[in-house]
Parts: sequence; structure tokens; C-alpha cells
Amino acid sequence: MEKTFLMVKPDGVQRNLIGEIVKRFETKGYKLAGAKLMQVSNQLAETHYNEHKDRPFFGELVDFITSGPVFAMVWEGENVIATARKIMGKTNPLEADPSTIRGDFGISVGKNIIHGSDSSESAEREISLFFSENEIVSYEKQA
Ligand code: CMP
Repeated sequence: MEKTFLMVKPDGVQRNLIGEIVKRFETKGYKLAGAKLMQVSNQLAETHYNEHKDRPFFGELVDFITSGPVFAMVWEGENVIATARKIMGKTNPLEADPSTIRGDFGISVGKNIIHGSDSSESAEREISLFFSENEIVSYEKQA
């Protein structure tokens, strides 16, 4: 079954949005396969955001994601990568539709509450960067 990596960013943790965000994916019907509150190291941040390393905001991005704890998650279900991106809304919260996570809670493109994998390749890469195999739980869930 398809899996994606989602991460409540430091602003989302500070604003007490972990529960609200988890609830949105639970009530949609997706299955939580792994989760942890953690501090991202500089090295992990630079690896995770490697594709943005030549962008002018790269330093800001790394500083922000390491500025406080994040809540890292693995979610599982049909088409979860693309659907999670719809539930999150556009990267820039000012362009995100109301009723999406970023549309409802964000106003800044840097502090945009949540990160989610944008493809199956990214999902695989990001899950293995943040989680070891024994932190991913496999279980049956009734709908
Ligand atoms: P994320 O999904 O975590 O992936 C890359 C991040 O870069 C993105 O969310 C935004 O938070 C951030 N980002 C994109 N554009 C800008 C920008 N112009 N200034 C600062 N951060 C940005």
C-alpha cells in the first residue's frame, strides 16, 4: 500500500496543531504507520531539503526546520501521496484554498505548517531518512 511522509513543522508544533493535523488524515480514512516528535539536526535538514540547496532561501529553510521540534509521520493508504497534498493545500498558504491545512492555518510560505512528499520517489527517500524500518508499524485497520 502507498505510503507518504508528512511532517508538522516547528510552527505547527508551537501552535498546538499536531492533534488537528493528525485528525484530518485519520478522519479522511488514512492509516498512521509511524510518528515521532523529534529535533531535526542540521545534517538531516540539509539532506532532506537537498533539492533546494541552490535556492536563495535554503539557509532560512534549514534554520527554520531545525528551530524547534517537528512531528514526523508516515501515513498509508490509497493514493495517499497526492491526496495528502490536496489536504495540505498549496505551498504558499496565501494561495491555498480554505479548508486545506495551509489555507486554514498559514500565512507565510516559509512557515507553512506542514511538509508532505511530492512523489513516490520523495516519499520513499524521506521515509527512510526520518524513520528506521522498525519504527514503521504494519497492522490491520477496520475502515
Ligand atoms: P516544503 O513542502 O517543506 O518544501 C520546501 C519548502 O521551501 C516549502 O515547503 C516552503 O516552506 C519553503 N519555501 C518555498 N518558497 C520559499 C520562499 N520563497 N521563501 C522561504 N521558504 C520557501
